[in-house]
Amino acid sequence: MNPKNWIMITSSSSPETFAIMTNDRIAWTCTCFCILIASVAAAVILLYNKTKKQERQQQLKPLPLPPMAPYTFLQIVHHLTGPDLPWFFLRISRAPNIGPIFRIQMHPLSSLFGRIITANNNCNWGPTFVVTADAKLAQMVLRDSANYKHPCVYGRFEKVGGRSIFSTEGARWHHARKAVSPAFHSKQIARMNEVVSCQIRQWMDNTFTPLYVNTGTPFDPSEELLRQMLKGISLAGFDYTISEEEVEMVLLEISIAFREILAQSINPLRDKFSAFHAAGRRMMLSSARAHKFAQSVLDHYRRRSNSMNSTIISEHHNNMIISMIANNDQYQSDDERCSDIISFYIAGHDTTAYTLAWILLELARNPAEQSRLREALRRASVDDRIHTPELKHVIKEGMRLHPVGTNIWRTLDKNITTEDYSIPKGAHISIATLSIQRNAEYFEDPDEFRPSRWEDPSDAALSAFLPFALGRRNCVGQSLAYAELYNTLAILLVDHEFRVVDEGRVDYFVTLKPIGVKLIVNKVEQ
Ligand code: HEM
Repeated sequence: MNPKNWIMITSSSSPETFAIMTNDRIAWTCTCFCILIASVAAAVILLYNKTKKQERQQQLKPLPLPPMAPYTFLQIVHHLTGPDLPWFFLRISRAPNIGPIFRIQMHPLSSLFGRIITANNNCNWGPTFVVTADAKLAQMVLRDSANYKHPCVYGRFEKVGGRSIFSTEGARWHHARKAVSPAFHSKQIARMNEVVSCQIRQWMDNTFTPLYVNTGTPFDPSEELLRQMLKGISLAGFDYTISEEEVEMVLLEISIAFREILAQSINPLRDKFSAFHAAGRRMMLSSARAHKFAQSVLDHYRRRSNSMNSTIISEHHNNMIISMIANNDQYQSDDERCSDIISFYIAGHDTTAYTLAWILLELARNPAEQSRLREALRRASVDDRIHTPELKHVIKEGMRLHPVGTNIWRTLDKNITTEDYSIPKGAHISIATLSIQRNAEYFEDPDEFRPSRWEDPSDAALSAFLPFALGRRNCVGQSLAYAELYNTLAILLVDHEFRVVDEGRVDYFVTLKPIGVKLIVNKVEQ
């Protein structure tokens, strides 16, 4: 045997030979070992790939689009633009064969051919409009900051006052929202709330007590509170004492403009030829008047700032909504500033006033709940009244049953899948808060006013409570709104009793409103 084929392995510590092997045997063993390793690796890779492929196939398994609500384009447009909209969505979401997530027919051809085109409810042309009464999907859509407000839905609000913080996206929205946020920090809220409470007390002394409490004359809570909240936001956020004439003018012009916007969204011709008919021109006049009013608020602020000695300008003066708007130099013009002033005036009074009116109506309908709340308020010290759990539960329950912003729209930036459906990028999703907050899956007896349900709410109930929306485009004014709701209700309920004379009716355009309600109020002695 060739000695080269021998390998002598020696140890430095011990020179004795302890192993001898041939190169062939080493090569053979190594090859076998490599083959074994390679086979095991290949098997592992194959198995891994197979599992991944199965997973991918499961993921790719095309989930269907949500079911189509059985209505034609014209019927949908009729409901989508009318006061019945929130209830229409609620009815569909409760239909057993549809469920909480459904599509609505919006492509233009279906208006011509109706059901022929939508045969089998399976026509996927045109933009996808999905409505959700499902809280999980709503949370998913609202929390994803890439989803956005689309001009086809929010653009129409620009007819009153132009492009604003409420309607736009991108840099225009971003700088406005960023600049105004400090106006809603807790110190500012406390101050604004003090101003609004003062306003309510003045109204109670001058109007509420002499006109309604002392005489027993019924009053309309929406009409009264709209005016007080408008005066309150004007003084607290804009340092502007709005006159009675201006209050009436603002309320009238906003209402005229919104009604016409609604009419134009039913009839696109009315929209295109707005300048050629009287109602269209009247809407433009409303918008111009709203702008003129906003400009006078801005001018008033500037005059006041100039007249103040710079050393005595208070922190509050610098942190009001109006200061944030007036001093934000990223606005291109005063016109843009005025658009945001109008938005804050609108968003800051109508929502809070109607929420208060709904809660008063529910308490008047439910005397036992009203007494329970009054007793709790009376047990607490004056400062602690707003912290009583009973008040918190009444407010949450009122906002659950009557979310004034019942229809929040977002457009999807990417495809999303729920457990049952897949919804494509670009779809417009309506977060139907009224339907979500009255979904029996989250709330037992969902149409009943039952404040005690908030004593120990389930996680599902908490996640289905969305009156201020969520995420990047949530309500910037919600801390102020809560402060106003707590204080106003504590002041009103502690020594007054409300009874219903007329339930009125529900109206919906932009917000959900109790219209024509009449309540009688009595003083309840301590
Ligand atoms: C109970 C009272 C209120 C409710 C229920 C409410 C509800 C909402 C909701 C649901 C939105 C989102 C709308 C959408 O995306 O379509 C919103 C946005 C907004 N709210 Fe409120 N709101 C209330 C009070 C206020 C107050 C007091 C202010 C200001 C003083 C305010 C200012 C705004 C503004 C400026 C936006 C637009 C924010 C943005 O898009 O970045 N809101 N509100």
